Amino acid sequence: MTIVINMREKVDWKKIKVAARFIKESKLVAFPTETVYGLGADALNEDAVRKIFQAKGRPPDNPLIIHIANFEQIYELAREVPETAKILAQRFWPGPLTLVLPKKDEVPYVTTGGLETVAIRMPDHEIALALIQSSDRPIAAPSANISGKPSPTLAEHVVDDFYGKIECIIDGGETKIGVESTVVDLTTHPPMLLRPGGLPLEEIKKVIGKVNVHPAVKGKPIKLAKAPGMKYKHYAPEAQVIVIEGEREQVTKKIKELIKEYKKQKIRVGVMATGDFYEADAYFNIGENEEEIARNLFKALRELDKSGVNVILAEGIEERGLGLAVMNRLKKAAGYRIIKV
Ligand code: TXA
Ligand code: MG
Repeated sequence: MTIVINMREKVDWKKIKVAARFIKESKLVAFPTETVYGLGADALNEDAVRKIFQAKGRPPDNPLIIHIANFEQIYELAREVPETAKILAQRFWPGPLTLVLPKKDEVPYVTTGGLETVAIRMPDHEIALALIQSSDRPIAAPSANISGKPSPTLAEHVVDDFYGKIECIIDGGETKIGVESTVVDLTTHPPMLLRPGGLPLEEIKKVIGKVNVHPAVKGKPIKLAKAPGMKYKHYAPEAQVIVIEGEREQVTKKIKELIKEYKKQKIRVGVMATGDFYEADAYFNIGENEEEIARNLFKALRELDKSGVNVILAEGIEERGLGLAVMNRLKKAAGYRIIKV
């Protein structure tokens, strides 16, 4: 049985307490954050964390992010907290930034996928913070999707993937950012961007200067990637996604050509792009700017997939600001099938 708690209007502490009790009882609770929905469990309880991996079908060496509600909790999890961590947290927490630090012994290897480091963030969402506070536990939470599916930005997405399989889903409406947090490894010098996300790299550089970018961020994932998450196929819908990159006009022209070609071959085609593509079997107007596009990205992938199309043509955007995170997800979804025009 899964309890779905509606909390779209305002935080209801009575209901939060119900969900917090599940966390204390080593059960799973899905909850909204400002990025995507998370599938949460007590981060320091091995049995609870194992349930996350089981429910998601997640490979055991893909580590989880631990969510905290106040800065001091970082000292329960990290063995060392360098000055850069304090500066970044001061500036960007609560917010879509995850910091990788050396882990304390108390953090089980189950949570860190066997690594000596731990990923920590403070989410910028009242419900998430209330749940962490009320359960009085740091909460490990990957995105609340079955491994390999697009991340959930609506409670409906979590219901689709986990109804009947977890204890509780808190519905807080649509998530504000729509792509996951930015992951930065602070155990290397200079720090290294492991995953682009809701906080643009440019913002981080303004505060701490040089940041290296892991090669898997823009290109094909390489084997033995630093963030183990990068070596698995991610965000992939059932349909084959193809990214079309280039000048807007050229891209639009190419998409229209491709729609015709696919139709001739009786292949059902969906489009996610800025503007309307009525000729397609299904289309999702993805938005005018990078914020809108980030917010709509995963929903578009899920909806187009549900519409039963065989191919999804996706318009590429520039890889700066939130565009870096958007393109990272899109290229992965496409298995790196990219047409440049
Ligand atoms: O926005 C988010 O980050 C969402 C919400 C729920 O907070 N969570 C999320 O978790 O996206 P997940 O599990 O889907 O992605 C966690 C990422 C993975 O790429 C993983 O490899 C990386 O963080 N990661 C976690 N711990 C790490 C570590 N110790 N070293 C390197 N990478 C780590
Ligand atoms: Mg994920």
